[in-house]
Amino acid sequence: MRTIAVINQKGGCGKTTVSINLASAIADEGKRTLLIDMDPQGHCAVGLAVPDEQIEQSIYDVLLGSRRGEPTKLAEILWEISDNFELAPASIDLAAFEQQTNGTTDRENCLKDVLATVERNYDYVIIDCPPAVGLLTFNALRASTDVIVPVETGYFSLHGLSRQLDTLSILCKQCSQHINVMVLASMYDIRTKMGREILAELRKNFAGRMFWTVVNFNTKLKEAASLGQPICEYDPASRGHKDFQSLAQELIASDTQVGQKQTISTVHKQMPPVTEPAIQTSKRKEIIEALDDNLESISASAQELLAGIKNNPAKAIAAQNLDDKLNDFYGVRQLGGAVRFITLYPRAQNVQIAGDFNNWQPNKTMMQQGKDGKWELALELAPGKYRYRMVVDGQWQQDPYNENIEMNPFGEYNSILEVK
Ligand SMILES: Nc1ncnc2c1ncn2[C@@H]1O[C@H](COP(=O)(O)OP(=O)(O)O)[C@@H](O)[C@H]1O
Ligand SMILES: [Mg+2]
Repeated sequence: MRTIAVINQKGGCGKTTVSINLASAIADEGKRTLLIDMDPQGHCAVGLAVPDEQIEQSIYDVLLGSRRGEPTKLAEILWEISDNFELAPASIDLAAFEQQTNGTTDRENCLKDVLATVERNYDYVIIDCPPAVGLLTFNALRASTDVIVPVETGYFSLHGLSRQLDTLSILCKQCSQHINVMVLASMYDIRTKMGREILAELRKNFAGRMFWTVVNFNTKLKEAASLGQPICEYDPASRGHKDFQSLAQELIASDTQVGQKQTISTVHKQMPPVTEPAIQTSKRKEIIEALDDNLESISASAQELLAGIKNNPAKAIAAQNLDDKLNDFYGVRQLGGAVRFITLYPRAQNVQIAGDFNNWQPNKTMMQQGKDGKWELALELAPGKYRYRMVVDGQWQQDPYNENIEMNPFGEYNSILEVK
């Protein structure tokens, strides 16, 4: 059984889209596939038309049960989506998992223990992770053999990538296990020069640690999710479907390669699957060091790549375009008495902000559209801590350029702003 966690701290980079459609494409290849939603926002169920009100038990009950002596079996919460494809849905309670398991021993191994009980039932398990590094993501990592990091092919996604990989490296070190980390270019827009240039640079710098397949920006993927269907059902002729088919095939093909290579993966293959104490300390050290090198070099590549683009605009991106991008500051910052919000939504019709500073009424605070998909707004706010979300064409979401987030009572993420 190969277990793959889809991780990126950034919300909106395509984790859920990748999780749903990759799981469905793997199942289409005849592999027994389980999709586990570890994000309390429960978007996998939404994207697969599993009615929220009918979800009586979720992965939360299974995880908690595994530590409470009244285990809920994984089979009891599963939804059959199609042939070979099952979903373990999330629920909002998952937001309380960290708090509920406070003081419980071994709480980072709940998912790993649960999956050990179904080891023989599946070929692939895909885990959709929340956009934060907490106990839920750590549980996913502990249970995983592989991590996929979806990365949008834009300058600012590269910016966060290096730090992201550093965090993963720290987490993997704590896990004491070999995890194969691969970068996946997602939401690639071939029509933009920046997209093309960045993909070329990613390929050069991440050779061997990046999927050959790229997931293109395809509105059919968005439509499929809003109708609750995987792309293979909604539009099998679409670009989106072809991309996920190819990703699934690339992943499955790498199964055999993993076994053949004389790399750290081979070391991993020799390990007994769940009998961790049996691994000799020296072997474990070797695995961790190799993984750490692997991650550090990916992270260093990301930094180099970023520096290269900054210092050599002519090479990477048309100079004017790059200057525009670099001089911009996306996100939120304080400038004198005002707070400036700047964001990028090239396809949006209108962008609003709702927060505790306007009683969460977005129509009071519209952002102004600039050129090239940029939206901005300056607000005068008294010193203090504020929570806010962006409302993009009616859809509420966290500010994609502000990494300071906090989960709200609905299991979604508010962006946080501190005015001094
Ligand atoms: N390749 C893509 N092409 C078009 N839209 C996409 C693509 N990937 C994701 N989206 C859309 O972008 C939004 C955020 O994607 P999602 O998968 O929910 O991200 P995350 O799980 O990382 O928050 C959703 O509206 C989704 O439909
Ligand atoms: Mg998601």
